[in-house]
Parts: sequence; C-alpha cells; structure tokens
Amino acid sequence: MRMYDLIEKKKHGQELSQDEIAWMIRGFVDEEIPDYQMAAMLMAIYFQGMTDRETAELTMEMAGSGDMVDLSPIQGVKADKHSTGGVGDKTTLVIVPIVAANGVKVAKMSGRGLGHTGGTIDKLESIPGFQTAIPREEFFQIVNRTGAAVIGQSGNLVPADKKLYALRDVTATVDSIPLIASSIMSKKIAAGSNAIVLDVKTGSGAFMKTLEDSIRLAEKMVAIGTHAGRDCCALITDMDVPLGHAVGNSLEMQESIEVLKGRGPADLTEVCIDLAANMLYMAKAGTIEECTKLAEDSIADGRGLKALKDMVESQGGDGSYIDHPEKFHQAPYSMEVKADEAGFISHMDTEAIGIVSVMLGAGRSRKEDPIDHSAGLILRKKYGDPVQPGDVLAVLRTSDQKLLPGAVKKLKAAYRISREKGAEKKLVYARVTRDGIERF
Ligand code: URA
Repeated sequence: MRMYDLIEKKKHGQELSQDEIAWMIRGFVDEEIPDYQMAAMLMAIYFQGMTDRETAELTMEMAGSGDMVDLSPIQGVKADKHSTGGVGDKTTLVIVPIVAANGVKVAKMSGRGLGHTGGTIDKLESIPGFQTAIPREEFFQIVNRTGAAVIGQSGNLVPADKKLYALRDVTATVDSIPLIASSIMSKKIAAGSNAIVLDVKTGSGAFMKTLEDSIRLAEKMVAIGTHAGRDCCALITDMDVPLGHAVGNSLEMQESIEVLKGRGPADLTEVCIDLAANMLYMAKAGTIEECTKLAEDSIADGRGLKALKDMVESQGGDGSYIDHPEKFHQAPYSMEVKADEAGFISHMDTEAIGIVSVMLGAGRSRKEDPIDHSAGLILRKKYGDPVQPGDVLAVLRTSDQKLLPGAVKKLKAAYRISREKGAEKKLVYARVTRDGIERF
C-alpha cells in the first residue's frame, strides 16, 4: 500500500477499507508515514468526511494503537467524561472531584489545549508540582486512595491520537466530525471506564457551530461507545458564550476552585452540576434527581473542594493553592478593554475569544510551543449584560507586553453591542443516549 494512493482515494471522497485504515494508523504511529502525508489525509477527511463504518474502524484502530487499560485493579464503578472542547471550559476540574466525593471512581486521561480551546492538563500544570505523567500502578493506587486522578495522555495510551491530535492542532483540521469522534472515543475506550459522559459543545466557540452538527457528533460518539460495551450518554451544552468568566490556565483553576466553594459563576456551576449528575447517574449512583442533589450537596458541604485538594496533593501538587487560590502566579502585564457604546452585549465570537487567549500565550501555535500558564483574560461582561461607554468588557493578562495590542484589537472585534437585549440562551440543549435524543 502507498499513503499517496490512500490520500488520492479520500481526496475524491471514496471509502477507505478496514485494511487501509489499519495500515495507515500503524504506519503513522511507527513513523513510516510522515507528518506531511498524514496532514494531507486529515485535510482530505476534513473535506470529504467518513462513513459511520470508516469512523468506527478508525476509532477502534486508534484505540488499539497502544495499551488498552484494564481498570480492574480499581474497585467499584469507574466513570469518565470528555468535552469536545470549548473556551473557559473548565468543567473537568469541578466535576471530577464532585463525582469522586460521591464514591464513584474517576481514572481520567485528559488532553492539552487544542486550537482555540483550552486543555485540562495545561490548567492542572499551573499548580506547582502537579504531575500529569504518572506510572500506571501509581495512578491506580491514587484513584483507589483518593477516588480520582487526572493524567495526561502519557505512556503508550492511544499513541495514534497523541500524534494526530498535535498534527490537527496546527493544520486547521480539528473541526471534523469523524476526526473528533474517533479522537475522543478512542481515548475513552482505551482508558477503560464503564460509564462515560460526553460534553458536546455547540455554538461560536465550539468546533461544532450548529446544534444539529453537535447532535450528529454526539450520536456518532454514543453509538461507538455503546458498540464498545460502555454505558454512554452525551449532553449538548452551550459554547456560544464562554463558560464562566476566566479563560486561560491558572485563571481557570482559580475559577474552578470558586465553583467548588459555592461562589462560582451561575452558568459554569449549573453546567458542572448537570454533567456531574449525569456521570453519577451513568455510574448508577441513583436517579437523575438524586444524583443532581448529590452534586449540589458536595459543593454546599465542601466535599468536592476537599476531593480536589486530595487529588492535587496525591499527584504531587501544592494543595495550599486550593485553599489560597490567590497564590497562583499572576501575569505581570494586564490591559482593560472597554466598551465604546451603550447597549446590551448581543453577540460574543467565542472562538475569537479563545484565539485571544492563545495570542496572549495561554495556548500553542506550534505543537512544540511552551505556554504561559498565567496568560488569559477575565470577561467582565457577557452575552445579555447591559453596558455603558467606558465599561470594562474584559481584562487581558500576559507575561509578554508586546502581545497586548493585537489581542486587544481582536477582543474588541469579538464583542457586538446592540440596543436590543437578545433572547435568553439555554445552557443545556439536549441529552443523547442510545435510546434517542431528548431536547430541553
Ligand atoms: N477533544 C479531543 O480529545 N479530541 C478532539 O478531536 C476534540 C476535542
């Protein structure tokens, strides 16, 4: 087989066979197929798509490209969640401790920032000492002891996705249904949990911009998960507006701690409670109403916060940052962006806001780039808020002063102000299970 021929085939919209997909993934992982040919294939898939059969076979081939984790050394039901990625999407940092605080184990493998979206591993690494590369046995011990651990895609877990993810991030090939579905589900299947909740984002800051595309992605992922024998559901949640106020790694850590203290932004808190409740429900911890109450109670009584601190300390992080989030290093340069006119915030280009955060240093433009954990922005005004001229829309933070002017210009263009207040937006649009779609 020749990669050239497979690229040519996909470029013309033809289906790849199971043997071709297997050959391509193995060759790429073994470094026999170079990045430039795989980049061309990714772009061909981006434009031509894949059938359900191709997507399912790609997923299973990717999942099997490295170790398939056997979580049986961890006692009890193991739950996992994965987001398709958003701006200010720090839900994992809140949900994982809430679920662990209610007796369901979470042995989670998370990613780094991708495109304009942030990644949980980058956020957790803003805590001094926090280790995201932990040997398998120790990872299991931590989960058995503290209920949860979040590690990076280290070792030999889904090496195909590790390589593809980094390549997609820098070749503008992220927002493709078969590529997202296979990336997420290969990791979830290889990571071994029994119960999986997918957070499929929709709107201007999501990879899927429309509700119908998001539902199609959710259906594809739930079908793949179910076929692989997992209890799997998806919530379609809003990403037309950034979640919470903070965007950027350590800023998002601070905001997540606020949510667990019961003082977080209402939108972020509500989405976290819904996702945590669904994880508990999929792990058979009660009815959905009981699981929602469990999630709410673990914020109110501080059990979620304690579980976060336990997890951070067991992974080598400095737990005093959880008690005193003001200790997070603050970027030395900041600039306020102000409104020029009066009205209501009628649109936020959330993808552009994610790009502003990357421009300030919080994300990567090339896969080997280092990141500035303290960079990012705090949104002072969000969709629907009234504004007067001179009101601060957002505060930008960075360690590199010369990045500010370009970021300010882009952020200003990301806000639209109108005389009329726009319609209320939902936070959760639908729930997709193997039995169908429930719209809210
Ligand atoms: N998250 C992933 O893990 N993969 C994607 O492709 C998109 C979001």
